[in-house]
Amino acid sequence: MEMKVTCRKMLFLGTAILICLHAVGAANETTTTTAAPITTPTPTPTPAFPDNIGSWNVTDGNVTCIMIHAGIRLNVNYTDINNSTRLALIDIPSSAAANGSCDDANVQYVKFSWFYSESHALENTLTIVFQANATNKNDSGTPPATPIPVGKFAIIKISAELNKDTKLFPNATDIGNPFSFDQQNLVVFPTTLNHSFACAAETAIGTTTQDLSLQLQNSQIEAFKKGPVASGVFSTAEHCSADEISSGSMIGTVIITILIIVLLALGAAALVTYVLKKRRATASGYENM
Ligand SMILES: *[C@@H]1O[C@H](CO)[C@@H](O)[C@H](O)[C@H]1NC(C)=O
Ligand SMILES: *[C@@H]1O[C@H](CO)[C@@H](O)[C@H](O)[C@H]1NC(C)=O
Ligand SMILES: *[C@@H]1O[C@H](CO)[C@@H](O)[C@H](O)[C@H]1NC(C)=O
Ligand SMILES: *[C@@H]1O[C@H](CO)[C@@H](O)[C@H](O)[C@H]1NC(C)=O
Ligand SMILES: *[C@@H]1O[C@H](CO)[C@@H](O)[C@H](O)[C@H]1NC(C)=O
Ligand SMILES: *[C@@H]1O[C@H](CO)[C@@H](O)[C@H](O)[C@H]1NC(C)=O
Ligand SMILES: *[C@@H]1O[C@H](CO)[C@@H](O)[C@H](O)[C@H]1NC(C)=O
Ligand SMILES: *[C@@H]1O[C@H](CO)[C@@H](O)[C@H](O)[C@H]1NC(C)=O
Ligand SMILES: *[C@@H]1O[C@H](CO)[C@@H](O)[C@H](O)[C@H]1NC(C)=O
Ligand SMILES: *[C@@H]1O[C@H](CO)[C@@H](O)[C@H](O)[C@H]1NC(C)=O
Ligand SMILES: *[C@@H]1O[C@H](CO)[C@@H](O)[C@H](O)[C@H]1NC(C)=O
Repeated sequence: MEMKVTCRKMLFLGTAILICLHAVGAANETTTTTAAPITTPTPTPTPAFPDNIGSWNVTDGNVTCIMIHAGIRLNVNYTDINNSTRLALIDIPSSAAANGSCDDANVQYVKFSWFYSESHALENTLTIVFQANATNKNDSGTPPATPIPVGKFAIIKISAELNKDTKLFPNATDIGNPFSFDQQNLVVFPTTLNHSFACAAETAIGTTTQDLSLQLQNSQIEAFKKGPVASGVFSTAEHCSADEISSGSMIGTVIITILIIVLLALGAAALVTYVLKKRRATASGYENM
């Protein structure tokens, strides 16, 4: 529902950009050239995280191995002409294209690609690499610096190629040059195989000591899915701890609190009744019976 709203918004504000994205999405170089003259001075619709929620699949033959539903924002530090560090917020449009690889049983990736209006001929990409540690498998290749728990998959690498345009990187020293980022040896969101990772709350990948971090919202992520495309639904979700706190355990706490209050009230009532009975008994002189 949120996705639809975003699309309409984009249509109103920047029809040209949408057309451009679709044309390039067809992935023929000839279409890219024909799409170029369409660009008008229409202002770029600023994607509004967390409303810019998209759904993406990586499908190989009849298998959809990766499914992602999320609002994705990149936080990028860059140096401006005064040598001070600035923060660029880049939201991946829900219309971004996604492809990747289902080939390897241990490593799979999804690559998002999208274009800005001002530098639409230059592709921006974000790649997320997953690794699995299946219980029934002898690991192939070198194990990661931090091993993935057995029977789980996790994000192990994030890389990005972004174009430093004047709009998203105002006053950057090297406007027009690409920004490249590559963070390896991660173990993020370890999730049991045949399950999906779900987090309605905002989560971040990467630290502030890095030049880039990834913010996700309303995310549900699954890799190493098996089975035909037709069964392209998320497997049972494993919720992030932030969601558990805001739903499950909160409800549990409330129920336990109510139970304690009720028990205390019952106890107090019983005590009062007992005391009253005892007083009446004393008053009527039956105490010694
Ligand atoms: C466009 O690319 C597809 C494959 O991606 C190809 O089958 C088709 O022939 C191409 N069309 C043109 C006009 O180049
Ligand atoms: C999926 O494709 C593979 C190989 O292309 C085939 O062996 C398998 O039977 C297909 N499965 C379904 C459910 O179509
Ligand atoms: C650079 O610093 C000067 C002086 O502090 C300031 O006037 C100017 O606005 C700054 N420019 C940018 C792009 O931050
Ligand atoms: C920015 O830093 C570089 C080297 O660190 C220096 O050569 C340059 O003069 C500095 N520019 C400003 C505007 O401070
Ligand atoms: C993904 O798309 C890019 C172009 O955007 C293409 O070069 C690459 O081969 C594609 N990869 C797969 C696995 O389809
Ligand atoms: C797993 O691989 C190692 C070498 O990488 C080999 O020594 C070992 O025998 C293998 N174990 C099994 C159960 O295949
Ligand atoms: C899988 O788990 C085993 C046991 O903890 C560990 O030795 C191995 O390095 C892990 N493999 C990966 C790819 O993380
Ligand atoms: C700094 O960025 C602002 C906003 O994009 C722009 O108006 C201004 O001309 C830029 N200044 C320099 C020196 O590039
Ligand atoms: C995941 O499910 C597939 C088929 O649904 C099964 O073959 C595979 O063993 C399962 N993997 C794990 C780790 O349970
Ligand atoms: C990146 O930006 C954040 C937020 O402004 C800041 O806390 C962090 O120190 C910066 N990192 C670097 C490497 O400059
Ligand atoms: C992903 O795959 C599922 C199942 O095939 C489909 O329902 C869904 O529309 C796909 N999403 C996208 C963005 O292609």
